[in-house]
Amino acid sequence: MTTKVMLLLLLCQVLLATALHNPVLPGWNPDPSILQVNGTYYLATSSFEYFPGTPIYSSKDLANWDLISHAQTSPSQVQLYGTPTGAGVWAPTLSYINGLFYLASMTRWTYDPVARVWPRIMYLTSPDLINWSDPIWTEPWGIDPALFQDPKTGKSYLCLMAPNNNVDRVWGIYQCGVDLATGDCSGQYMNLYNGTLPQNSSSRLEGPKMFYKDPYYYLLTAEGGTDDQHRSTIARSSSPEGPFDPAPNNPILFNGRWGFDNLTVQSTGHGTFVEAPTGEWFCAFLARRKVNGSSPLGRETFFTSVTWEDGWPILNNGNPILLSESIQGISAEKTEMASFVEDFCGESLDLSWYQLRTPYTKNYVLTSSNHDHGIYSNHRNTSDDGSCALVLKPNVFGLSDRDTPAALLRKQKSLNMTFSATLLATNSSLSYRQSVGISIYLSELSHQDVGVKGCTNTTGLCAYSQTMINGTTQSKEVLLGLATIPQNTTLHIRAQPLSYTLGYSIEEGEPTWIDEVSSKWLAWAPADWLVFTGASWAIFASGGGEPWQPSGAVVGFTKVREEYLEENIPDYDIW
Ligand SMILES: *[C@@H]1O[C@H](CO)[C@@H](O)[C@H](O)[C@H]1NC(C)=O
Ligand SMILES: *[C@@H]1O[C@H](CO)[C@@H](O)[C@H](O)[C@H]1NC(C)=O
Ligand SMILES: *[C@@H]1O[C@H](CO)[C@@H](O)[C@H](O)[C@H]1NC(C)=O
Ligand SMILES: *[C@@H]1O[C@H](CO)[C@@H](O)[C@H](O)[C@H]1NC(C)=O
Ligand SMILES: *[C@@H]1O[C@H](CO)[C@@H](O)[C@H](O)[C@H]1NC(C)=O
Ligand SMILES: *[C@@H]1O[C@H](CO)[C@@H](O)[C@H](O)[C@H]1NC(C)=O
Ligand SMILES: *[C@@H]1O[C@H](CO)[C@@H](O)[C@H](O)[C@H]1NC(C)=O
Ligand SMILES: *[C@@H]1O[C@H](CO)[C@@H](O)[C@H](O)[C@H]1NC(C)=O
Ligand SMILES: *[C@@H]1O[C@H](CO)[C@@H](O)[C@H](O)[C@H]1NC(C)=O
Ligand SMILES: *[C@@H]1O[C@H](CO)[C@@H](O)[C@H](O)[C@H]1NC(C)=O
Ligand SMILES: *[C@@H]1O[C@H](CO)[C@@H](O)[C@H](O)[C@H]1NC(C)=O
Ligand SMILES: *[C@@H]1O[C@H](CO)[C@@H](O)[C@H](O)[C@H]1NC(C)=O
Repeated sequence: MTTKVMLLLLLCQVLLATALHNPVLPGWNPDPSILQVNGTYYLATSSFEYFPGTPIYSSKDLANWDLISHAQTSPSQVQLYGTPTGAGVWAPTLSYINGLFYLASMTRWTYDPVARVWPRIMYLTSPDLINWSDPIWTEPWGIDPALFQDPKTGKSYLCLMAPNNNVDRVWGIYQCGVDLATGDCSGQYMNLYNGTLPQNSSSRLEGPKMFYKDPYYYLLTAEGGTDDQHRSTIARSSSPEGPFDPAPNNPILFNGRWGFDNLTVQSTGHGTFVEAPTGEWFCAFLARRKVNGSSPLGRETFFTSVTWEDGWPILNNGNPILLSESIQGISAEKTEMASFVEDFCGESLDLSWYQLRTPYTKNYVLTSSNHDHGIYSNHRNTSDDGSCALVLKPNVFGLSDRDTPAALLRKQKSLNMTFSATLLATNSSLSYRQSVGISIYLSELSHQDVGVKGCTNTTGLCAYSQTMINGTTQSKEVLLGLATIPQNTTLHIRAQPLSYTLGYSIEEGEPTWIDEVSSKWLAWAPADWLVFTGASWAIFASGGGEPWQPSGAVVGFTKVREEYLEENIPDYDIW
């Protein structure tokens, strides 16, 4: 290779590293709703059984997004008790009406067929997207609600996906004029639109997003179900109350058109359009990255360009969404982070940490913070070496329970990365039921753990792994020959697109790897259960069915580290 060619290659690499590529919000961030107010963009995504609910991101340039808040931060705003994976809070829509932000969403506490619990629609209001009101519950039931104010008449509408009745459950888009103060329908509740697919229980017309662009009202929808058939379609009308005419170029976004086993990016849909202050239009939507047929990161937020022809939108010039192509029309560069380090020295945790379901009690504390005065009696917040630490208050529950274990989770943001967490040194041992560890977590039915516990058949501590593959739990124990957890004991998970490797290190140095799991089990649920989230990293401690004894070891973490490696995922799902 000549020096000139090498220089050129180098230059291309530098350029590729800075231009904006999909996914724009990596890690599970489905059902994006985007809004632009006074030159700032806001974006909300679904949070399911995670707490706090509904993350809200903000950006000035569409390329770099900061997590600024969550809409549901208190039990009065979201009740997730016994909620199974995939239920919880779905599909938000942000609106800005009369100087106030609205976030419409729904809660589905469970979908167990015996429970017969239907999804409840609500919206919250906020002057600043930080401080949110309690929910205002609406009359209709269904999913994917959205508020729309007609700019011509000032009248507000609630649109949602709802069933025709409770017998055959054929879903369509329904609408009523809404009294914003009460959530009650102020106008007739009616079926507005039935979409472009033959109407049956799998056509799943959903995610209605209404907007006005002179001279039409547009209704952007998702169709085909959340899996491979997922796509975006659009219709328009001269009135927000219809009738709506579908676009001649529907579906306007559908990578499945090129085959379900062909392109890496699949399930493209559930979009929202946004107009930039420059008059350019963009679409934020969800898509999955398929690696050898499954998507451990779940559904992420993607962007594409929107151009208009005869009053109909064309997405990405009608071409498929490819990971290798930069997003047209967005010139801003994305600042890529090489690592994330949490040393627990802050006053509070970074916003990117979550718990599972609505916590009944607070089960962690930062030793550096004085915020939890009075919650903990005696010693639970003391770290032995005096450094900053996250001390967990373990309870009877673990990651397999439909409750709130002493666990904190962060979304997995790259298919090629490492996650490691250094344990707080302990003064005493753990019983065979007690564990402290890390996990790559999809659900209560599929999580892969590595940690330290009391050995099952002998005294002293063991490193252990517990994997859940296709519904079968398996564990391994490695004798450590230690009575207490020493300083610098670190747990490691190496994520690659197709596998996760689990290990530990007692002193600084190379990890000892003890288990490996195919990444497809991070995109798996038993029949009749839903996979709507993607993989998260967890740090946890558990009493394994028993309360943590008052005399038990003080357990926690002193550092969490994520290293993001280059992520060359091909455009075609060929491995
Ligand atoms: C947007 O600008 C208008 C006009 O200056 C102002 O009244 C409004 O409060 C601003 N809204 C936000 C959310 O910044
Ligand atoms: C949040 O809003 C409520 C109700 O409007 C108000 O009472 C409270 O002071 C606000 N809190 C903050 C931190 O702004
Ligand atoms: C949608 O389909 C239902 C039948 O399932 C029908 O009653 C209704 O009139 C249709 N709505 C529209 C707007 O075409
Ligand atoms: C719904 O209709 C589509 C297209 O005709 C068909 O492929 C699908 O099997 C139908 N689904 C059900 C549940 O009937
Ligand atoms: C795979 O997708 C590409 C478009 O990106 C298309 O040209 C090709 O025909 C597709 N292959 C198959 C087998 O459909
Ligand atoms: C891809 O998945 C298939 C099974 O679906 C498996 O046989 C094959 O080994 C996997 N490929 C790689 C590279 O892991
Ligand atoms: C635990 O934290 C509380 C609140 O900051 C503090 O009052 C208490 O002294 C701490 N306990 C110990 C043993 O340091
Ligand atoms: C652990 O041992 C150290 C040194 O003996 C002591 O300073 C510390 O208070 C002990 N911590 C607990 C939680 O007992
Ligand atoms: C503990 O001992 C029992 C009985 O010998 C054995 O079946 C089991 O596999 C052992 N467990 C571990 C984790 O070593
Ligand atoms: C998973 O388990 C089911 C039975 O529960 C079995 O039918 C299926 O073949 C298993 N899949 C794999 C990949 O082992
Ligand atoms: C743990 O690591 C720190 C930082 O590298 C080092 O200063 C300390 O001596 C180590 N402690 C032990 C007990 O190895
Ligand atoms: C993951 O990162 C490693 C180390 O940088 C690199 O060798 C490998 O090619 C990367 N894998 C992918 C799929 O990008």
